[in-house]
Amino acid sequence: PKEMFVADLMARMTVDEKIGQLNLPTSGDITTGAANSSNIAKNIEEGKVGGLFNIKSVQKIKEVQRIAVEKSRLKIPLLFGMDVIHGYETTFPIPLGLSSTWDMKLIERSAQIAAQEASADGINWTFSPMVDVSRDPRWGRVSEGSGEDTYLGSEIAKAMVHGYQQDDLSKNNSILSCVKHFALYGAPEAGRDYNTVDMSRIRMYNEYFPPYKAAIDAGVGSVMASFNEVDGIPATGNKWLMTDVLRKQWGFDGFVVTDYTGINEMVDHGMGDLQTVSALALHAGIEMDMVGEGFLTTLKKSLDENKVSMAQLDNAVRLILNAKYDLGLFHDPYRYCDVTRAKNEIFTAANRLEARNTAAQSLVLLKNEKQLLPLKKSGTIAVIGPLADAKENMAGTWSVATNMDKSISLIAGMKEVAGKDTKLLYAKGSNLDYDAAFEEKATMFGKTLHRDDRTSQELLAEALKIANQSDIIVAALGESAELSGESSSRTNLEIPQAQKDLLKELLKTGKPVVLVLFTGRPLVLVQENETVPAILNTWFAGSEAGFAIADVLFGNVNPSGKLTATFPRSVGQVPIYYNQKNTGRPLMNKEGKFEKFRSNFIDERNEPLFAFGYGLSYTTFDYSNLIISSDKMRINETLQVSVELSNTGNYDGKEVVQLYIRDLVGSVTRPVRELKGFQKIFLKKGETKKVTFEISVEDLKFYNSDLEFVAEPGAFQIFIGTDSNTVNNVGFELMK
Ligand code: IFM
Repeated sequence: PKEMFVADLMARMTVDEKIGQLNLPTSGDITTGAANSSNIAKNIEEGKVGGLFNIKSVQKIKEVQRIAVEKSRLKIPLLFGMDVIHGYETTFPIPLGLSSTWDMKLIERSAQIAAQEASADGINWTFSPMVDVSRDPRWGRVSEGSGEDTYLGSEIAKAMVHGYQQDDLSKNNSILSCVKHFALYGAPEAGRDYNTVDMSRIRMYNEYFPPYKAAIDAGVGSVMASFNEVDGIPATGNKWLMTDVLRKQWGFDGFVVTDYTGINEMVDHGMGDLQTVSALALHAGIEMDMVGEGFLTTLKKSLDENKVSMAQLDNAVRLILNAKYDLGLFHDPYRYCDVTRAKNEIFTAANRLEARNTAAQSLVLLKNEKQLLPLKKSGTIAVIGPLADAKENMAGTWSVATNMDKSISLIAGMKEVAGKDTKLLYAKGSNLDYDAAFEEKATMFGKTLHRDDRTSQELLAEALKIANQSDIIVAALGESAELSGESSSRTNLEIPQAQKDLLKELLKTGKPVVLVLFTGRPLVLVQENETVPAILNTWFAGSEAGFAIADVLFGNVNPSGKLTATFPRSVGQVPIYYNQKNTGRPLMNKEGKFEKFRSNFIDERNEPLFAFGYGLSYTTFDYSNLIISSDKMRINETLQVSVELSNTGNYDGKEVVQLYIRDLVGSVTRPVRELKGFQKIFLKKGETKKVTFEISVEDLKFYNSDLEFVAEPGAFQIFIGTDSNTVNNVGFELMK
């Protein structure tokens, strides 16, 4: 019926109406660039709009949908898209934080709740998940992805797609998902946003493509093209990428949308004028044009001049109408416009509780000397720092639907969780410390900087006063939300200087200091790690951040988050990631001492400060008895590898048990290890459990130099342990 319905509708469409379906303007309601909203209503009436995005509230969406289905000739309903990236009004941790939970059920559930709330407010399409692998914390958008790892990123991609789409788009609380940014957007040179990407195909296939493919295999309905070039051709005009890889090799049958003015930007890339690049995009396999109106204004001319074919246009229209059909919009264009749902299903107590629990799981304990944490629920605690009472900074980047006023700040959360025997004192201590250039940019985007007019001396004096009255100091420092996200690349990865100065003064008081760190990216924390006894990394944990952080600080929740992106020692080490190649001149000593004519730096060690997979708990875990079922494996067999995990500390807790594989000899060089499995295990204190993984030949495959996906016979090592540095290993041989 879908094919017939769509074919019948298309038979009644004029060329202009067909081109109109490919047009995706922004509403200008929530802008993510310059908005062009003047003609929208008129264009909708004339059938020149296929969807609209970043418009918030069910009432507004209903009104706009009414124009489409009552005033346009063919009454084709609109798609309503939005950047629902990590929750809707109930906001979950930024994706980098979510990934640190290593809990696929929680992640899927967060996407499901986001879909439920967004769909209750009229949205039927989200521009998420972002699955761009990134190994460069200078790039501000590391905050929006799942970190540096291909395997983990692929698992998360699947979980998110299932969460949003629930394998059934016809439900009114599931929404169409859009995997982005295809492809390689996370690897711009120097970490500078929108910059050139240049990568070998073998690396694309082995390390950067799999998360996109995982989303496709999970049934994602749409794909967003990336801004960058791939092999010298912008992704938006890259036929190899959009047709050969995406459709022919991977079998994708949904539609592809550009990123914001992605077609027009090909003019600046130097690919030709607007008509040329619009035709190029259609040829490549793009169906929908976000904002730039290249299709709207040039495709008819290109048809007349035989620069594109009617078959190409028809194909694009069909894929967009298919998506509308799958969403049930032809059956009921208002199926996402139920005003009572909007009242009852958004920012509910139940959703907020799930966000709070998820956020607590995303925090990563980086250091905890002498078990300073958890805090006692008694005595006097001085909570100091520009991020302690900063609701507007809790949700983090791309939280367009969040009502910042309702977010829970750290101090508010601590007040609730601390109990009546604890006295909490608060002082701001310093400004966030933006430099003048950043302030100017932030104001350009209408951001409120919450700058305090008091001098730094006055702020410090107030902070030291309460610090001296306290038993312990909680310092809430780090990046503000605007320092990461789109167009927020940095060359300096340290905590801003004014806050570092504040921290130094707080340490001088001699009181124990807990650093509660806010960040959208891996930071360089060498000094902090040397001087501060306890560091809890909280990312931007969402609307319930303050509660979640307090839950962990006071021990109601034992931290179990693990890093999904390496924290470097210095910005000069970047890009840095655990699954590197050995090189022909690896370092021979384990202490990180400099060796002449080996692959290392004169002025810095090779290892990061905090490795991928690292994260502490209030309890301790012990790994023993690593056993493999056989030291030989045939292609059609599986192996069982098990380890005994014991909780040897004083708290119940969860541990992410990680399995890495090393392929010791290959026809192409292989990484020193690659994550191939993980399990998050809960153990009561004193408890021991056997944790078993199954290894099949699929876990050993990679793309060889002919881009064939193969497993090569030979020796392998399996490492199981608490992070990517684990040395605990067993070997086996894959037989012919
Ligand atoms: O979805 C986003 C994308 O990630 C970056 N450019 C704008 C799009 C729509 O807001």
